[in-house]
Amino acid sequence: MLLAVGVRSQGTKAPIDIPHLQRQGAATQLMVHGKPFLMIGGELGNSSASDLAYLKPIWHKLVQMHLNTVLVPVYWELLEPEEGKFDFTLVDSVIYSARQHNLKLVLLWFGSWKNSMSCYAPLSIKTDQRRFPRARDREGKALEILTPFSEENRSADVRAFAALMKHLRAIDGKEQTVILIQVENEIGMIPEARDHSEAANRAFAEQVPAELLGYLQKHKASLIPEFHDVWSATGFKSSGTWEEVFGKSVHTDEIFMAWHFARYVNAVAQAGKEEHPLPMFVNAALIRPGYKPGQYPSAGPLPHLMDVWRAGAPQIDFLAPDIYFKSFSEWCEKYDRSGNPLFIPEVANNQSVANAYYAIAKHNAMGYSPFSIESLENPETNQISKGYEVLQQLAPLILANQGKGTMAGALLDSAHHQTQLHLGDFVFNVRHEYSWSYARRVEGELPRVGGMIIRLSPDEFLVAGSGIIITFAVRGDDGAIAGIGMMEEGRFVDGRWSPGRRMNGDQSHQGRHTHLPGDSFSMQKVKLYKYQ
Ligand code: DGJ
Repeated sequence: MLLAVGVRSQGTKAPIDIPHLQRQGAATQLMVHGKPFLMIGGELGNSSASDLAYLKPIWHKLVQMHLNTVLVPVYWELLEPEEGKFDFTLVDSVIYSARQHNLKLVLLWFGSWKNSMSCYAPLSIKTDQRRFPRARDREGKALEILTPFSEENRSADVRAFAALMKHLRAIDGKEQTVILIQVENEIGMIPEARDHSEAANRAFAEQVPAELLGYLQKHKASLIPEFHDVWSATGFKSSGTWEEVFGKSVHTDEIFMAWHFARYVNAVAQAGKEEHPLPMFVNAALIRPGYKPGQYPSAGPLPHLMDVWRAGAPQIDFLAPDIYFKSFSEWCEKYDRSGNPLFIPEVANNQSVANAYYAIAKHNAMGYSPFSIESLENPETNQISKGYEVLQQLAPLILANQGKGTMAGALLDSAHHQTQLHLGDFVFNVRHEYSWSYARRVEGELPRVGGMIIRLSPDEFLVAGSGIIITFAVRGDDGAIAGIGMMEEGRFVDGRWSPGRRMNGDQSHQGRHTHLPGDSFSMQKVKLYKYQ
């Protein structure tokens, strides 16, 4: 499954050149028109793409903020207003507008589930519970959630999604405006960890499918530790009912649901890929600290359930986190495991875009995307705009270096004031700029800052980001000292470095360090040397 890397995304109809995932060293990159592409993105608010007049002025704003990719919902109810009759007006208009603005699209299929609920299912489905059954709580009360234990529900979603993908192939197969698809949105069971409908209860009493157990046995040595721990508690039982194999707890309820959600989504993705095999992913609402299954949207593509999702949904190329918590780096770590490529489809739009620099450099992220991007004020000068302007310039260099061990990222805030990075022969001590008494500062909590370092040659480095101070040392113990040969700010123009000011005086504390001021995003080229 995951990782249709090195080949076209899985599916049967793929004679045309199509966006796909490809491995470069330790990284997975999204290839568009045969070249790696970094998604400098933003996701539209949920309702913004349902009204073309509302959407019209937004496009220009996105360009002003230096995006190259927009994540846009496709609403099942509006795509299929009548059963079997599809209306592609919104989709077509979004694609044509994106092309006019030189933007790529990630389409979000708001199908059976959106943030756990089935609010985007067509009314004809919502109002026919007999044919399209709901999940139920343990008292038997119906929820506004389509049950994944229904063939009818799945087939209805499959048909609509396949129609969408078929249409995309027809109108966009050549242009490749749509480069990636999110299947459903933040799937999860709430307020209980599992569905208690009759069909769900029957499935829960059955044996754990051999497909799942076979996968777990085969990957036992590399299972995600949190999942490994749950299974180890029963001595890695290799057959039996769900409660026999995984124990009697809400964790088992969640594992059971994750498997069935994954199977359902896999069928939807497969039908879509048979029409147009774009790479596809699912996104997760993350867990608040201390919450138990049932208290958070459970059974989604969460880190501790990665193995279950990978086993159940081989058509899904990767799992992605929606990061609204401050603990950005921890969630990146959790999703950058087991070969899962990192893409961040949603992040709170008030978080520093230094996050993007860090995720792209440290975790080889394929892209980054603040949510409700269009709601931000001052599109020409806000921090996302400033950060993205520099990131756009850097994209070719980043893409050439991802996965090769020649890039490093730092993210600092009130909990982490400094970090040490290593590239080639040198050590980079990265500190929050507030550690330097001359830095301009704002009152209140220490702002999040960060950036990336790219090794250009054994003694030349490009540093980019905001709010950091970097000092240099030589790796090893031969007593050599790292000297700063020269430092210059600059820009990339058409992919070539165009130097600006030399920074060897006050701007670098007379050659003691590199400083990227926190009121903007900038980059500098640094040439180091060694002396004794
Ligand atoms: C996460 C969801 O995926 C989005 O569609 C939206 O509902 C945001 N939450 C709102 O914060």
